[in-house]
Amino acid sequence: PGERMSKSYILSIDQGTTSSRAILFDDRYQIRAMAQKEFTQHFPDSGWVEHDPEEIWQTVVETCREAMAKLYIGAKDIAAIGITNQRETTLVWDKASGKAIYPAIVWQDRRTSDFCKGLKEAGHEALVTKTTGLLLDPYFSGTKVAWILDNVAGARARAEAGELAFGTVDSFLLWRLTGGNVHATDATNASRSMLYDITKGEWSKDLLDLLSIPEGLALPKVMDCAADFGESAPDLFGGSIPIAGIAGDQQAATIGQACFEAGMMKSTYGTGCFALLNIGDAPTISENRLLTTIAYQFDGKPTYALEGSIFVAGAAVQWLRDGLKVVEHAGQTGTMAEAADNNQDVYLVPAFVGMGAPYWDADCRGALYGLTRGTGPNELARAALEAVCYQTRDLLTAMQKDWAASGQTEGETVLRVDGGMVASDWTMQFLSDLLNAPVDRPQVLETTALGAAYLAGYQVGFYPAPEVFAKSWNLERRFDASMDEETRTRKYAGWQDAVQRTLSQLD
Ligand code: G3P
Repeated sequence: PGERMSKSYILSIDQGTTSSRAILFDDRYQIRAMAQKEFTQHFPDSGWVEHDPEEIWQTVVETCREAMAKLYIGAKDIAAIGITNQRETTLVWDKASGKAIYPAIVWQDRRTSDFCKGLKEAGHEALVTKTTGLLLDPYFSGTKVAWILDNVAGARARAEAGELAFGTVDSFLLWRLTGGNVHATDATNASRSMLYDITKGEWSKDLLDLLSIPEGLALPKVMDCAADFGESAPDLFGGSIPIAGIAGDQQAATIGQACFEAGMMKSTYGTGCFALLNIGDAPTISENRLLTTIAYQFDGKPTYALEGSIFVAGAAVQWLRDGLKVVEHAGQTGTMAEAADNNQDVYLVPAFVGMGAPYWDADCRGALYGLTRGTGPNELARAALEAVCYQTRDLLTAMQKDWAASGQTEGETVLRVDGGMVASDWTMQFLSDLLNAPVDRPQVLETTALGAAYLAGYQVGFYPAPEVFAKSWNLERRFDASMDEETRTRKYAGWQDAVQRTLSQLD
């Protein structure tokens, strides 16, 4: 205990899609120091997105050191490290050198879209869904691994010879942090690979065969989210630190939002938007094109979630700012939306990279409807913010159908929100109006990093059990619906019509 008392912090590593962050939390879940570094996005071809694995690694190490330096602390002051990460992004590396044999293929990358179509046409989607809870889409890691093995010179032979290892970003970081000693991942990250059987809790031989992934390719050992993953190499931070928590970023946000009971739901608004509904201990497969995924796993027992993934949320506001240049900074859009002309029904369908849940249309592209001579920046800003809310309603409708079909009684839906966009009061009010449900904004908005810190802290006894942690969740503001039913119905019908006109194939 004396030893533990001297350790006052948990170091949370949040390796996201556009930046790496390191956050130091104290024993009251308060942020004491933070460092962040953006890194390069590579777009080598249409629909391709890659990251440089060395840049991912460098920014992680640098931000950890920087956060520690801000508090003048060292490894001895840190009780544990938690890792959370952009999910699905795929790496294959050389076991001897730890060097990746190809850049990281990012979750947004659509290069395997034709491969997925072929597999679907051959009737394989049912196996994928039954085993992994996912759909046959380029979003997930499986077809990205297959692409690397088929397209990097010598990769398949080297994999067969047992020289290569596969992992998502968490796994690659764990390998590097432990100096190549540990090859592991957690159940939430494994559940996004399209190679993992979420019911049996093991890598799926059937899916590895389907994607021709050879047995020789080393797959990470799948562990609980709170577990003894290993120790960081002493030379990295001036002493070794236990690595004791891992979860994919959306699952970490679910934990940070303390959605520990079936029926609880969170939605994170970043570049994209990801809504997760805790469905308890049975991996019910969605009938409504949502994903079934592992929300978290403690003591070998997975808890499942239904997930709706939207690829463009805040990215639509970024487009108004950087592409159209009708907005100076993102924070302005709420005020602009408020000033927009109420007589104009402008709809933006932000299908910049196709549509995610529940449409899963990789080929359609974005569209604007309802433009008049009087349409200006204010109406466009409102359309972008509204689009995020309409898409959340699409997800919620699908979730409620699945939830009711699984025999659950319909309780009151409350949505816990986080991420950059939730700072806008206007957007949160519109979201509540459109969903006709309360929207809860917590005091701590860094829920992703907090979730990873909590996992690590729980494992080493620095933080209490989930039930106790859940009590520390504090509401900052609840938004209640105040829109009349007629307006809500009319506006949402307009969105549905706009989406139908945008999709590439009408079902
Ligand atoms: O599934 C992709 C998701 O994990 C990415 O999250 O926050 O890095 O954009 P983010």
